[in-house]
Amino acid sequence: MKSQRIAVAGGTGKIGRHIVEGLLEIKQQHSLEIIVLSRTHAPEGISYAGSNAPVIAVDYLNQDSIQRVLNEYQIDTIISTLSGDTPDAFIASQETLLRAGLAVPTFRRFAPSEFSIDSEQVKGVKMYQMKLPILRSLEEVKAERSPGSFEYSRFSCGVFMNYLGFGNTKPEGHKAHGYLAHFPWMIDLSKRKAEVPGDGECAIVYTRAEDVGKFVAAATQLEVWEEYNDMAGEVTTFNQVIRVCEEVCGVKFDVKYNTREDIIARMSPDPKAVMSNFQLEFYLAHLDGDCDVKRPINLNKLVDVKPMTVREYLKEWWP
Ligand SMILES: NC(=O)c1ccc[n+]([C@@H]2O[C@H](COP(=O)([O-])OP(=O)(O)OC[C@H]3O[C@@H](n4cnc5c(N)ncnc54)[C@H](OP(=O)(O)O)[C@@H]3O)[C@@H](O)[C@H]2O)c1
Repeated sequence: MKSQRIAVAGGTGKIGRHIVEGLLEIKQQHSLEIIVLSRTHAPEGISYAGSNAPVIAVDYLNQDSIQRVLNEYQIDTIISTLSGDTPDAFIASQETLLRAGLAVPTFRRFAPSEFSIDSEQVKGVKMYQMKLPILRSLEEVKAERSPGSFEYSRFSCGVFMNYLGFGNTKPEGHKAHGYLAHFPWMIDLSKRKAEVPGDGECAIVYTRAEDVGKFVAAATQLEVWEEYNDMAGEVTTFNQVIRVCEEVCGVKFDVKYNTREDIIARMSPDPKAVMSNFQLEFYLAHLDGDCDVKRPINLNKLVDVKPMTVREYLKEWWP
């Protein structure tokens, strides 16, 4: 059954905000109720495309505080776009969110905070290990419930294309980033430089954050959720992207190809934080084929969203 009453946890954040805007764009057409859960009440809510979603304060470590809100709004679908200061806080918050939902009679769909490369594929990325416990919980809940009465789906979109906009100098260049943080990911067009894993032939999936919002919103109107909802603006390789960057910028890029030994040598042997080796762990994941496309990109076929390609994005923001 389609989602009708949707709560976006973390919807004030980066990708969360794009998903809220995607939902607000289709809210009137499908008579949806959209609410945003946050640790902080925001009286103005989030407005977009002539619609508004209230931002309601909850305590992610207190099930009752979430349950009350989900009950009041008779929520059927929870989309988690949470992050966390620590893995423990993240794991506990998503689990509490799920438990709160399960105590509400109308609840039947949950999307955990994925929105990247499937966390189960990139187990070498330490930060992403915190995404695994909720998947086990979701599998258990689905197995316990009667068929069709509970669905979950992991939304995977690869890397946000917006990171290719870092350092652009277009008049409204900040818009290239959407609500995301501003930094380059492996390819830095502002310096005409790239640091890529291996020989650069490994696959990379890019989706623009705005398109992720549209894809997720459209997916809420599917009658059935598959356990995977994979989307892509483009499936490409590092070398192909660099070729397009060079073409659009009109200059040759300085590219460093990193061997496994190069990458390991740069890793902190005694990481103080779970994020310390984050990008380097991703280099290894690419080298190991863990970031390859393992399944058909099903969501592109299931919904009518026309995402931006890398070339279209680069032409908008560069040279
Ligand atoms: N594909 C990619 O390239 C890519 C890049 C970055 C992130 N991601 C993924 O996208 C998902 C969301 O990441 P994001 O960067 O969009 O998240 P974010 O903006 O950093 O955080 C989302 C929201 O989580 C809420 N939150 C709840 N408990 C928190 C806590 N203990 N500490 C911090 N925030 C807390 C905050 O909302 P309130 O303050 O309103 O409570 C925050 O705005 C993650 O799964 C992440 O791995 C993917």
